Amino acid sequence: MDRTNPRIATADVEPLFVNRWSPRSFSTEPLTDGDRAALFEAARWAPSSFNRQPWLFLYETDGPDRPLFDSILLPGNRAWAARAPLIGFIFANTTTADGKRPRTAQFDTGAAWMSLALQATARGISVHGMAGIDRDAAYAKLGVDARFYTVMCGFVAGRIGPPDALPEELREREYPNDRKPTEDVARRGALRPGPNG
Ligand SMILES: Cc1cc2nc3c(=O)[nH]c(=O)nc-3n(C[C@H](O)[C@H](O)[C@H](O)COP(=O)(O)O)c2cc1C
Repeated sequence: MDRTNPRIATADVEPLFVNRWSPRSFSTEPLTDGDRAALFEAARWAPSSFNRQPWLFLYETDGPDRPLFDSILLPGNRAWAARAPLIGFIFANTTTADGKRPRTAQFDTGAAWMSLALQATARGISVHGMAGIDRDAAYAKLGVDARFYTVMCGFVAGRIGPPDALPEELREREYPNDRKPTEDVARRGALRPGPNG
């Protein structure tokens, strides 16, 4: 199979945007302290409404909590993600201590996640987000208060590994995918009913 990146940008964007993709085959090579610090530092500088910075990243590498973190993944994700040298779960502070529910908390947290992902790409590190997690277990096992936080997803980070380390069915999908055309998602002016309604 041809594993060169098939993505073609239709405008002049930084290569980072098309080079970031979500592999499943990770090398077990540990991230350095500098790599790890850079990822979370990038997330820290994400913009947020009222500068609330509602994100919370809990992560583990090869420490004593690693089996606990891995156990939160649904089995389909655990099958490949447990190899990656860093695993994390991302929470958004969706209810504040004074009972407010900022409507942008999840959006802001997405911005922080994307900052982390792009910083990773810039350092030759891959990340892969995972909605396939046991959400109840994420709160219970990680000690996060579900009254105030919403778990968004899990993720792993590391250097990409050889596709043949994956089970057959995943190996076939181990390449960068495509996108809808830009015109489908970014339009100039208001939406108005067309000739067909
Ligand atoms: C919030 C979120 C949740 C995701 N959940 C999963 C998941 O549970 N399992 C999985 O294999 N991939 C998951 N993905 C990866 C997406 O399928 C992937 O990002 C999408 O197909 C676009 O491909 P790309 O990231 O390679 O550009 C998730 C991605 C995001 C951002």
